Amino acid sequence: MPPNHKEKRLNSYFQTIAPHYDLVNNLVSFGLHHYWRRFAVEKAHLHPGAKVLDVCCGTGQITRALAQKVGPQGFVVGLDLSPSMLKIAAKNLRDLDNPQRVQLLVGNAMDLPFPDNSFDRVVIGYGLRNVADMRRALHELYRVLKPEGRAVSLELGKPRHRLLNKLYALYSAIFPPLVGLLITGEQEPYRYLHRSVQAYPNPAEVSATFEKIGFTAVKCYELSWGIATVHTAEKPPR
Ligand SMILES: C[S@@+](CC[C@H](N)C(=O)[O-])C[C@H]1O[C@@H](n2cnc3c(N)ncnc32)[C@H](O)[C@@H]1O
Repeated sequence: MPPNHKEKRLNSYFQTIAPHYDLVNNLVSFGLHHYWRRFAVEKAHLHPGAKVLDVCCGTGQITRALAQKVGPQGFVVGLDLSPSMLKIAAKNLRDLDNPQRVQLLVGNAMDLPFPDNSFDRVVIGYGLRNVADMRRALHELYRVLKPEGRAVSLELGKPRHRLLNKLYALYSAIFPPLVGLLITGEQEPYRYLHRSVQAYPNPAEVSATFEKIGFTAVKCYELSWGIATVHTAEKPPR
């Protein structure tokens, strides 16, 4: 599918589901996505004062956690293609202690509007599966990361265990579209969710792609039997 076709389609999905995105996520993951995001943010190894980019920030759940970690001297940019998701993010971030240290920006992960070597950390949550070209997005993450900086990607995955894998595939083909239909009136975005998880490369392939781009110290953590994965990687020193 041509990149801008996928982007247009995703934009229309996220426009429809944005107001209910967090609620549906809570229901279909039984709250587990809070734990997965917390784990990913921990793996960013943040320090107060860090400058962080949250790519595909959506409704700002990860952006919020990052902003809390970097404190009043830090700075966090949340970037997303969908203005509808960013509108919800702005609401979700209103009560932060340091809202002036967070900037929300409409932008494309495959063409980041930042100079090379800009951020101490880049985080992408449930984003690599959704971008039209994962390699290009990873190139961009690498480019804007400072040398010795760290990248973290949180994604959905598939359990390795054969029986669990089958049960999970059945669950994700049926339950999220049903919940999506009941809450948002649409099931297509949640059918897409199932298809995109099935089509996403396995953790070793994703690690290999990070390495081909130039990242080092690539590690992968499989959470909840592999239903979620976190990749961490570093940009080598100059
Ligand atoms: C599943 S949501 C994840 C949101 C958030 N990171 C979270 O933890 O819930 C995926 C987000 O990626 C955004 N997105 C998809 N393609 C994108 C692109 N090429 N550039 C920037 N954002 C993109 C969508 O608009 C959507 O908000």
